[in-house]
Amino acid sequence: MFAIPGESMPQPFSILFVCLGNICRSPLAEGVMRAVVQERFPQRAFLIDSAGTNGYHTGEAPDKRAVFVAKQNGIDISKQFCRQLTDEDFNRFDLILAMDQNNLMTINRLAPLNSSAVTGLFTAVARDGFDGCTADRGEEIPDPYYGDVQDFERAYEMVREAAEALADRLV
Ligand code: 4NP
Repeated sequence: MFAIPGESMPQPFSILFVCLGNICRSPLAEGVMRAVVQERFPQRAFLIDSAGTNGYHTGEAPDKRAVFVAKQNGIDISKQFCRQLTDEDFNRFDLILAMDQNNLMTINRLAPLNSSAVTGLFTAVARDGFDGCTADRGEEIPDPYYGDVQDFERAYEMVREAAEALADRLV
């Protein structure tokens, strides 16, 4: 369970979603989580963002299939821009959540010694909360980049389920 700041705490609770390219899964997670907290906690401030462990697509908009699937579900991610994970992210975000094990390993390898962020697999932290023993034990959200629209729909459904479960913990 994560305590989220109330009115007396000006700092917004902050979550960074991370995948490889920051054009498919993590933009979906950013858009869905924004929508979920807006619906569940309309009075509370959150900082929700996404980044990629690689910088191949820096500055690009999300993949058009991700934009399409999000739009089908009432969420606009078309105005996001791809960026790469930075050192500063490790002290700017409370949670840094990876879409798969490879990206979690990269995040943990890149973490500066003074990092204050909790890192983990998105589905594991959503299901179990942060527990150092289970933060890496969960389902991976498969990379849909080389797949078709159905793979993006599957990624969307997994992201939605994890985002709702994570929001259950933000009380
Ligand atoms: P993502 O998907 O990590 O969910 O954004 C990918 C996007 C691009 C590439 C790989 C995965 N790529 O190799 O360009």
